[in-house]
Amino acid sequence: PQTLTVLGLESSCDDTAAAVVRQMPGAGAEILASVGHGQAELHGAYGGVVPEIAARAHAEKLDVCVIQALGDAGLDLGGIDAIAVTAGPGLIGGVISGVMCAKGLAAATGLPLIGVNHLAGHALTPRLTDGIAFPYLMLLVSGGHCQYLIADGTQDFTRLGGTIDDAPGEAFDKTARLLGLPQPGGPSVEAEARHGDPARFRFPRPLLDRPDCNLSFSGLKTALLRARDQLVAEQGGLTRADRADLCAGFQQAVVETLAAKTRRALTLYLQQDPPEPVLAVAGGVAANEAIRAGLESVCAEMGARFLAPPLSLCTDNAAMIAYAGLELFRDGVRHGMDLPARPRWPL
Ligand code: KG4
Ligand code: ZN
Repeated sequence: PQTLTVLGLESSCDDTAAAVVRQMPGAGAEILASVGHGQAELHGAYGGVVPEIAARAHAEKLDVCVIQALGDAGLDLGGIDAIAVTAGPGLIGGVISGVMCAKGLAAATGLPLIGVNHLAGHALTPRLTDGIAFPYLMLLVSGGHCQYLIADGTQDFTRLGGTIDDAPGEAFDKTARLLGLPQPGGPSVEAEARHGDPARFRFPRPLLDRPDCNLSFSGLKTALLRARDQLVAEQGGLTRADRADLCAGFQQAVVETLAAKTRRALTLYLQQDPPEPVLAVAGGVAANEAIRAGLESVCAEMGARFLAPPLSLCTDNAAMIAYAGLELFRDGVRHGMDLPARPRWPL
């Protein structure tokens, strides 16, 4: 294998990002540059990502990110071997912005174009950060995703199960909104939960009676809403302790649900007799310390290594897209100018 240097673009949600990743023969991959423009302040007033605003901001910022990433890497496009871009799944306006930018760069330079599945980008991150060998078990937990995947190869993923309604990050964000805590909800709910009593409110642990790896988080939100409304009706409002206890009870339900379903996913994965069993996580929710501790103890109990990449690579970023593009390039994948932008694209 020769040295490969890949430029990656990401614009499928609310982060505009570009990165350069290089891999030399016999060595691990190296991130030469990774830049991103978040759009939190653009969407903050609306309580969620507004697709049209996101698409316009991606179109404005993608070229800026590309130029900055190349500058940080000390390269121009002459030093790049391929251009990788998130071609879905995601908010279609943003995905189109990225794909069009990548096509323009490929057309101008003659470089190969590689469309990357955003979820494959997340799922291959443990190989970028730690050189993990296939097969490994992956848990994607973010504001938009929640699924268990066995990664058997660069283009070979088996989905064991996932959420049938909300993603856990979404549930954290909704909980924060219901309790008047700031967005993003994950960190604020986690902070409140630290000084709360997780036993005061007993929230549902949905689907634990089913033997599969599917999860559900929408009922949790309804239960929380009821508990809040009951307290407000009884006392006219919420005390600081009420809020902390509600957060602790909610978080505990998520921790236990994820731990139980992870035990099932690990059982299925271990049936493959992986030589070095690994559970890796990706997604913003993987930042949660209580969730990490829950997953870590399940892994310890079942004899698997628990791997949580650095948070900057767990959340949306372009280094994972550049790296996935690099692996696909080695597999011989090349896309033409007819590469479609796809709103939905299951792995
Ligand atoms: O992966 P990510 O940055 O974006 C996507 O959703 O694609 O994940 C963001 C989500 C948000 O819902 C946020 O509330 C959640 O991750 N999150 C957390 C924590 N930090 C971020 N959830 C629970 N605990 C946290 N500490
Ligand atoms: Zn993502």
